[in-house]
Amino acid sequence: MLDKELKNLTDELAQKTKQVGKCELRVICVAISDVTDIILRFTDKMAGVGENAHKRDTICILGTGDFGRSLGIRLLKSGHPVVFGSRDPKNAALLPSGAQVFSHADALKTSKIVFLAVHREHYDFIPALSDLLDGKVLVDVSNNLRMKQYPESNAQYLSQLVPKANVVKGFNTVSAWALQSGSLDASSQVFVCGDDNQSKQLVMDVARSIGLTPLDQGSLLAAEELENYPLQLFPMWRLPLTIAAGLTVLFFIYCVVIDVIHPWAKENKDVSYRLAISIPNRIFPNVSLILLSLVYLPGVIAAFIQLYRGTKYKRFPNWLDRWMLCRKQLGLVALAYAFLHVLYTFIIPTRYSVRWRWMNSMIEESKKNKTMQLSKVLSWRVDLYFALGMLGFALYVLLGITSLPSVSNAVNWREFRFVQSKLGYVTLLLCTTHAAVFGWDRFLQSKWYRWGLPQAYMWGLIIPCTVLVLKLILIIPCVDKMLTKIRRGWESKLENKMYGNKSLCI
Ligand SMILES: Cc1cc2nc3c(=O)[nH]c(=O)nc-3n(C[C@H](O)[C@H](O)[C@H](O)COP(=O)(O)OP(=O)(O)OC[C@H]3O[C@@H](n4cnc5c(N)ncnc54)[C@H](O)[C@@H]3O)c2cc1C
Ligand SMILES: NC(=O)c1ccc[n+]([C@@H]2O[C@H](COP(=O)([O-])OP(=O)(O)OC[C@H]3O[C@@H](n4cnc5c(N)ncnc54)[C@H](OP(=O)(O)O)[C@@H]3O)[C@@H](O)[C@H]2O)c1
Ligand code: HEM
Repeated sequence: MLDKELKNLTDELAQKTKQVGKCELRVICVAISDVTDIILRFTDKMAGVGENAHKRDTICILGTGDFGRSLGIRLLKSGHPVVFGSRDPKNAALLPSGAQVFSHADALKTSKIVFLAVHREHYDFIPALSDLLDGKVLVDVSNNLRMKQYPESNAQYLSQLVPKANVVKGFNTVSAWALQSGSLDASSQVFVCGDDNQSKQLVMDVARSIGLTPLDQGSLLAAEELENYPLQLFPMWRLPLTIAAGLTVLFFIYCVVIDVIHPWAKENKDVSYRLAISIPNRIFPNVSLILLSLVYLPGVIAAFIQLYRGTKYKRFPNWLDRWMLCRKQLGLVALAYAFLHVLYTFIIPTRYSVRWRWMNSMIEESKKNKTMQLSKVLSWRVDLYFALGMLGFALYVLLGITSLPSVSNAVNWREFRFVQSKLGYVTLLLCTTHAAVFGWDRFLQSKWYRWGLPQAYMWGLIIPCTVLVLKLILIIPCVDKMLTKIRRGWESKLENKMYGNKSLCI
């Protein structure tokens, strides 16, 4: 049977190809199009694809606003026939060509899948269409203006209005603009939830057919969460950015006091130009180092909590959970600050004030006819802290690179943990040593305590050193052995009695 069909197609192809050789331009174009069609049908036959393979489901969209139109354009491009349902079907000038537009009732008759692209405030026309929606898949794409605007989610409300329809929540996290322009890189995931699995599958198939990635989020109870999703503004970044901003302000005030106001008050020296580069180049590295140590501090605290409790089957306090969840963002903000420090450092030799100081010291030397001896200790110190800084920065960048989804997807869990956890601690160690070698013995010399205040780097070293010391305690063999035992499920006898009901913490 298939052989016969293939032979017919081959004959047809041979005939059309002959025509292309003989006829005038217009006929040639038609013939080429026929040949292309035959080739397509031929390849489909060879691949075992049926005649109806290119036919897609008709989709009905109620509402011809921004979202409805954009979705319609996208569906039409991917081969779905689209029928719009509108209050005013005659006013269809802006609709994409190829789409049909009817009244709500007539449009509903054309399709099993209906997208409701109307704001929740206007759902009151829906109950009148209840019979036409019986057994149909009704997709709620709506969003609200703020969280907890209504007592129930929009999708649950819709399901109460038309109990006979199978309501599915989805597509609300994709913007009309992204649908229309096709730039879905950042938002190609479509979260879908609903009580009827078959309906959910149909909606997920539609999402796939227009190049989106559907993710099943469970029953319609999840709709509230999906509706809240687009209302959140960088939820995981808020805490890291707040900490970074707070530390920046604190260090700024502190450095201005000891590096600008102190020389002005004590020696009547105006060094306010330091505000542009010197002060930021104190703030950035210190904040970066503290943020980096805050990435590793919760892990250490968690380990001590587990050791103290003698079990891993108990939840960590909420604040620790929250902290652990934003470590990636904390790390990336820390990397951004380190990057700024490196940029600011490399322009130091080109600064006018620095060049002036160098020239002045040369003139002083020649006036005195005396060459300053090379200090081996100072050379070692400077080379050492530069080397440590550069190595630390290289590993820092490596941590940043592995956090890119394309890279983290290419390594396995163990490799990822090795870079993020083990090399992360090495990064922290290198950067902390870099800052400590930079400071050297300044903490012993009273001249560095202006108005009795220690230098900024001394504050910057407190948390990193604490984290490193705590980690050192955790890797002592007997402590490490106990922690490993606990993480493999062992519980102390006391814990067995106290926490009979296990609740997994990580
Ligand atoms: C530039 C940069 C980029 C970053 N990018 C990312 C990123 O993309 N993704 C990311 O997640 N983090 C990222 N981070 C943050 C950080 O590197 C990781 O979270 C790192 O895994 C933390 O290591 P850790 O050893 O402190 O914690 P973890 O290895 O997560 O361990 C923390 C604690 O969890 C507990 N624990 C660990 N294993 C178990 C177990 N098997 N059973 C029970 N309890 C256990 C222990 O109490 C442990 O102390 C980034 C950091 C930086 C600086
Ligand atoms: N815009 C986005 O980027 C986006 C993204 C995700 C989700 N959404 C959601 O998609 C839905 C539509 O948003 P939109 O931006 O397209 O809004 P819109 O531009 O205001 O369009 C809404 C459409 O609803 C219809 N409508 C208005 N009042 C009505 C009423 N009283 N009764 C019945 N129908 C009425 C109108 O279509 P007719 O004139 O044809 O009847 C109107 O064009 C909303 O729920 C929104 O939350 C939008
Ligand atoms: C290419 C890499 C790096 C180079 C070349 C470098 C260089 C320097 C230099 C020259 C200074 C002294 C600045 C001054 O005189 O005011 C300094 C200070 C410092 N650096 Fe780096 N650094 C590098 C990376 C890092 C990294 C990754 C960190 C970690 C976050 C870091 C943390 C610090 C700290 C905390 C100080 C002390 C700042 C102060 O209080 O004055 N550095 N670094």
